[in-house]
Amino acid sequence: MSRKPFIAGNWKMHNTVEESVNLIEGLKAAKNKNNADIMVAPSFTSLNAVVKASAGTGFKVAAQDCYYEDKGAFTSQVSPVQVKGTGATHVILGHSERRSLFGDTDEILNKKVGAALNHGLVIVFCVGETLEQRESGKTEKVIKDQLVNGLKGFGAEQLKDLVIAYEPVWAIGTGKTATPEQAQDTHKAIRAMLAEQLGKEFAAGVRILYGGSVKADNVDAIMAKEDVDGVLVGGQSLIAEKFNRIIDYN
Ligand code: 13P
Repeated sequence: MSRKPFIAGNWKMHNTVEESVNLIEGLKAAKNKNNADIMVAPSFTSLNAVVKASAGTGFKVAAQDCYYEDKGAFTSQVSPVQVKGTGATHVILGHSERRSLFGDTDEILNKKVGAALNHGLVIVFCVGETLEQRESGKTEKVIKDQLVNGLKGFGAEQLKDLVIAYEPVWAIGTGKTATPEQAQDTHKAIRAMLAEQLGKEFAAGVRILYGGSVKADNVDAIMAKEDVDGVLVGGQSLIAEKFNRIIDYN
């Protein structure tokens, strides 16, 4: 099955509103020669401005997280209703920084998945192992638990637009990229897990992105792998020329 490439930038806690809009202007120079879905995930503060600046580009705009309640006394939290209200259509859930620094457990993420689905947000669901887990041979078990528990209770039909991002924690922001072979092996394993959990048809169609120190000079080799359908880029998505080269990978 041919899957449409998906190239995503997670801006993390970078960029003011003005800087975000300038970055979008810079990304308009990308040719998008691979006809990829292109997604950017700015901070909540810039979401609406980025939606407006992206008009006519086809860029998908994502929040980097959202809470699972629609509204209420939850100081500092942002609900899926509020995310939708900015004009954003996508949300990243389960990023390893959310899991490790802000206490997002599988159980919490499962509720966030439900809330995002309820409001029609497309979810980019992140999974990945730490170095210690990889070195002790637990990679597949860790990822399987993240998928089974995080997506528990939802079927293939509800999750039909889901995108998975495999981000090995040891490769995020470290300059250490998984080799294309490591990415391919893990993506293949993830696809097999999803076939078991949600059916073969779902698994054949779901897009699985690789994330972790993706840059202009390693994206081509990573994207060449059969089960890699896209990339989720951190640092290099903040610089228009670099991200444009990633978008227009060979
Ligand atoms: P880097 O590309 O900076 O390693 O970040 C990856 C990431 O966490 C994207 O979500």
